Amino acid sequence: MKIGFFDSGIGGITVLNESLKILPNEEYIYYADSINAPYGTKPKELVKEYIFDVVNFLISKGIDVLVIACNTATSIAVKELREKYDFPIIGMEPAVKYAIEKNKEKRVLVTATELTLKEEKYQNLVRKVDANSRVDSLALSRLVEYAENYIFERKIVVPYLKEKLKPYDLSTYSSIVLGCTHFPFYKKYFNEILPSHIEVMDGNIGTVKHLKNILEKADYSSSSNNGKVTFYYSGKEDNSILRKYLEMI
Ligand code: DGL
Repeated sequence: MKIGFFDSGIGGITVLNESLKILPNEEYIYYADSINAPYGTKPKELVKEYIFDVVNFLISKGIDVLVIACNTATSIAVKELREKYDFPIIGMEPAVKYAIEKNKEKRVLVTATELTLKEEKYQNLVRKVDANSRVDSLALSRLVEYAENYIFERKIVVPYLKEKLKPYDLSTYSSIVLGCTHFPFYKKYFNEILPSHIEVMDGNIGTVKHLKNILEKADYSSSSNNGKVTFYYSGKEDNSILRKYLEMI
């Protein structure tokens, strides 16, 4: 099975990392559109163009299934992509429902990109699952920039997170949802600064389980490619970048 993965950049590596554990025998092609990152602060129509270019590239490489390892790209293009192509397409969305159901009293803080949070898809999701208005949303765009530039130093990231979280009374929250695939690189810093009762959640494992179900349902026999990954960084094949980022998870 040739599984195509893409993200605005290197964030989707946090999803690919789980996929390599759960589906270790498949073949992967990953496209990091880093030259056009970030998506989350750009106009929707422009981002849509980037996405269709990337998907066409992956199709030219013969993918059988596509994982949109990016919440932002999913929110603006999954519907059209599914209408246009007939191979399975797995998207991502912030794990709001899971967070709301897991704790029925406290608040949930959803972090994502600006574009994800203002898109209809997210707004509808919250409207549907948040009957008691317990969800707050916070854009953390700078984490995308940090990750793209391989900035992981505590002294840079922690002050930014503290500043952004300052307005919230964290004792009233049960969880923080990481609704952007770049954010799990910084999970340890979230855990470090948040009170211990707060659970930091991302949708990565859920997405890969969903991918696995889809493959099983479609009766795809697993290939034995031993998790071979071909990594394209802005169009250029370069697996050293993938290795460098996998080390940071
Ligand atoms: N990694 C992406 C996401 O999950 C978007 C980051 C960006 O390019 O703004 O939303």
